[in-house]
Amino acid sequence: MTLWGGRFDGEMSDVTRQFTGDVSDRRLLTVDIEGSIAHVTMLGETGIIETGEAETLVAGLRQILEGADSFVFEESDEDVHTAVERRLGELVGEVAGKLHTGRSRNDQVALDLRLYLRGAADERSGQLRHWIETLVTLAEGTADVIVPTYTHLQQAQVTSFGNHLLAYAWMAVRDVGRFSDCASRLNESPLGAGASAGSTLPLDRNMVAEALGMLGPIPNTLDAVGSRDFVSEYIFCCAQAMVHLSRLAEELTLWASREFGWMTPGDSVSTGSSALPHKRNPDIAELVRGRAAGVIGDTQAILTLQKALPLSYNRDLQEDKRAVFHADDTLGRCLDAMTALLEDSGFEFPTPGSDTAALPLAETLVTRGVPFREAHHVVGRLVHRLESAGRSLGEADYDDLRAIDKRFEGDDLAALEMRARPIDDQIAALRTMFGD
Ligand code: ARG
Repeated sequence: MTLWGGRFDGEMSDVTRQFTGDVSDRRLLTVDIEGSIAHVTMLGETGIIETGEAETLVAGLRQILEGADSFVFEESDEDVHTAVERRLGELVGEVAGKLHTGRSRNDQVALDLRLYLRGAADERSGQLRHWIETLVTLAEGTADVIVPTYTHLQQAQVTSFGNHLLAYAWMAVRDVGRFSDCASRLNESPLGAGASAGSTLPLDRNMVAEALGMLGPIPNTLDAVGSRDFVSEYIFCCAQAMVHLSRLAEELTLWASREFGWMTPGDSVSTGSSALPHKRNPDIAELVRGRAAGVIGDTQAILTLQKALPLSYNRDLQEDKRAVFHADDTLGRCLDAMTALLEDSGFEFPTPGSDTAALPLAETLVTRGVPFREAHHVVGRLVHRLESAGRSLGEADYDDLRAIDKRFEGDDLAALEMRARPIDDQIAALRTMFGD
């Protein structure tokens, strides 16, 4: 069914119908109906349509909503909005023709996508919270396990494995914050903007916004139907969270190598090789790293989609949904998979190289008033000298220290013992924010 038959004599060709139609928006079904219920209720309350008509329409829409799981789309439905109007007509008859009073699919789709992303942001935040909880629990159990930190992929200092994991927990905390900022900014109603410049009917835009739990109507109608910065922002939230997951995925992949030997994925989260009988592969981590590429691509797509679009609505905007659904679905699946991977992996850590104690040793001199630059030089010479003799910093004794600099004292050897800073304060802070 097309909605605009009157203007044409001939039929639309199959090529045109198939090319312009969209099936990717079917997941907007329930939010589309919720938006329509708010719209029709307002039409009744303002007297734009009869109260009885509004009631009939709302009852029909509720019926469709209740059966949403088994809703049958027809090939001739151009998009989700058309499908609902068609079905409503089948249920309540001619009065269904009043549903679209004072509305266009342009403001309708802008509303639907906002409602959908408001819910999706909530779901992604819930998953991120679970992710944070998983990281915190694992960090708690490894708060005393010493590992090297890396800079330039060279061992730098030591820390606890728990502290390393918590870095990712804090990134996820900001990801949650970004989703929540994005959701609050997109929570405004475009309805009443119509195709581009509103309607001559006395629509009550505030009433609709309020019924939908939105902050208010979007003041400018062209902005309401033509802007998609909320979609760009949402995709960025996904992309940044994916990039965070991907960085850890890269580390997990390295850690699962024999060379690192830090991690063994459990059977439930490992994959094998069709050719090599011995393999236990960390495919989840590799795929998360790989899928981040597609979501980064979605940010490019959504921005490019808008960059040369004249105001207001253009059909190009129909493509926004593919990008945002892809980004959102990918993040959702990756969060579940990464959470499972961490929950069922074993960890084991070799002792870091003793060179990682170079800075603490230099700082013993600093506490005695030696300028840091000089202390740095002294320890550098010590490392160099030991290395030339085929020894490591961990093997240094008091005589080695004194041979380099007389300001070293006996206790300074204690700086060579590897210790990590406690992380209980971080764990407490994270649990206060996200704990049960
Ligand atoms: N399916 C369309 C979209 O997603 C709905 C709006 C269509 N508007 C129009 N004027 N053809 O953008």
